[in-house]
Amino acid sequence: MTDFSNEYCMHSRTCGELRSNNIGENVVLTGWVARRRDLGNLIFVDVRDRTGKTQCVFDPDVADPAVFADAERVRGEWVVKMTGTVRMRESINPDLPTGDIEVMVSGMEVLNSSVTPPFAIEDGIETAEDLRMKWRYLDLRRPEMLSNLKLRHTVAQAIRKALNERDFLEVETPILGKSTPEGARDFVVPSRLMPGKFYALPQSPQLMKQMLMISGVERYYQIARCFRDEDLRADRQPEFTQVDVEMSFIEEDDILNLMEDVLKEVFEQVGVEHPFPLQRMQYSEAMERYGCDRPDIRFGMELVNLTEAVKDCGFKVFAGAAANGNVVKAINAKGAGDWSRGEIDKLARIATDNGGKGLAWMAFKSDGAVKSPILKFFDDETVAKIKEAMDAEPGDLLLFAADTAATANAVLSALRLHMADALNIPREGHALLWVVNFPMFRYDEEEERYVAEHHPFTQVRREDLDKIETDPLACGSYSYDLVMDGYEAGGGTIRIHQAEEQKRILRRVGLTEEQIEQQFGFLTTALDFGAPPHGGIALGLDRLVMLLAGKDSIRDVIAFPKTTSGTDLMQESPTPVTEAQLKDVGMRLL
Ligand code: AMO
Ligand code: AMP
Repeated sequence: MTDFSNEYCMHSRTCGELRSNNIGENVVLTGWVARRRDLGNLIFVDVRDRTGKTQCVFDPDVADPAVFADAERVRGEWVVKMTGTVRMRESINPDLPTGDIEVMVSGMEVLNSSVTPPFAIEDGIETAEDLRMKWRYLDLRRPEMLSNLKLRHTVAQAIRKALNERDFLEVETPILGKSTPEGARDFVVPSRLMPGKFYALPQSPQLMKQMLMISGVERYYQIARCFRDEDLRADRQPEFTQVDVEMSFIEEDDILNLMEDVLKEVFEQVGVEHPFPLQRMQYSEAMERYGCDRPDIRFGMELVNLTEAVKDCGFKVFAGAAANGNVVKAINAKGAGDWSRGEIDKLARIATDNGGKGLAWMAFKSDGAVKSPILKFFDDETVAKIKEAMDAEPGDLLLFAADTAATANAVLSALRLHMADALNIPREGHALLWVVNFPMFRYDEEEERYVAEHHPFTQVRREDLDKIETDPLACGSYSYDLVMDGYEAGGGTIRIHQAEEQKRILRRVGLTEEQIEQQFGFLTTALDFGAPPHGGIALGLDRLVMLLAGKDSIRDVIAFPKTTSGTDLMQESPTPVTEAQLKDVGMRLL
């Protein structure tokens, strides 16, 4: 990297930029000692800054004795300023961009010393993640981590540029706000001035951006921090960043087209090739073919519906499923046909973890034999039908799920990903698509009510408006998720812009008139003042950058992330507060 200004600082050159055409130049470098080798007559010190590293050499014949003495003293991670002349290296290092040259040091200033770091500051080291988190500022010194931060910056700037050029206004919305239901728990902040009252940190700026549309902003964006108190995973943090976008006077296609243009520019900036326009897949098709709403389409192994083919077979589990209106679906794991029975039986755990009742399978051995605990239930004709539908050949393993469509999909979608890993199916590059037209509602068994699949500010498809009360599960919605490599990288909807329709949906998800007024009165009132048709989307910036960086945890692209238990090991937060602080906000611990 040479895109680093040498103005406004102590050095004249960065540690990453010197090449053979700089030979003979007098330079000043600053940075951290990456490595020091003492050959007795010569001392080599590699100096590292955020752009790279340069070998500096101390020769007692050239350097002042005091300078040479300093070179004997410096250690890893000391902070130094080197003055010297660039010269050709005796032994070229082709692995290093600066590997042709070295700096013959005439003067060195030690700017600071360092204690020995808890792990080596270099790429490719195996260090427990807890240790990396505790010493995050040292972890971030590693070139790989710094390059993740740079990538994140590049992506964020490219998004800003693309949106600015399209007349979007960047507007900040409050962090101390009111609970916006997005399906997760709120983080709450007690009010000192009004004891007993609480702000909620935004789960997203959803209602605020809708307010901005009513204000006439027309095109809004914000790189917005969001807070959700939910169980954490590799792709989930309690605070994360959304590229939050909202537009007025648009239809669904406008938002999708806009985002594709933005993504195109982002990908160009970071050197990723992907065909545009993106595929747009109906939610129902994604569920049918991949069993999930965020399919990784970089490989096949699609789910096949066998309900019809097996409805009359002798295996009660299958025939029964077909008779009850459930489904029998299967995947073909090509290359697993010769797995041992023990290995296959272990897969049943994945089925049961996802709600399945068991895992039926059929193995087509390389030698032509067919093995399956349920083979005895099928006549030759059914086996032939299955074989044909599944495109099965020697070396293949078929895995079946007979259940409700939802459970069969969950089981097979998990198995599909598991088998892709187990069989090392190549998943190079990136694959993006839109999944569109999600159901408006789903039934939440725990809460015993209908809830909005995206959020209750989403428009039901016009043709389904008459089913909101009578058949909510049949209502589609103007909604879309951006799916990238099997992750939900973004999601959005066209919003309701009429108060009456908004109240109708809020009633449908179980709110009383009183609750509607209390929680969403400000929204329904605002909608009555000439709200324009509007819609938007939010991209998960952390996930997008994670995927572009080729990482499998968003922690790797967040400067100071939290552990899966929500702790910041470096700051050691959360912490108790003092009695006085509690008293200030009128609270006492139970
Ligand atoms: P949604 O809840 O789908 O939509 O969030 C949008 C995107 O944000 C990312 N995301 C997360 N990333 C990291 N950690 C988390 N805990 C986390 N939760 C979500 C995902 C997701 O696709 N207001 C709506 C958007 C809209 O309708 O415009 C919303 O927040 O990549
Ligand atoms: P059973 O006749 O119940 O012993 O089941 C025979 C095989 O079918 C076993 O391998 C079970 O794991 C499997 N199985 C049972 N129920 C289901 C189901 N709902 N879907 C798929 N496989 C199942």
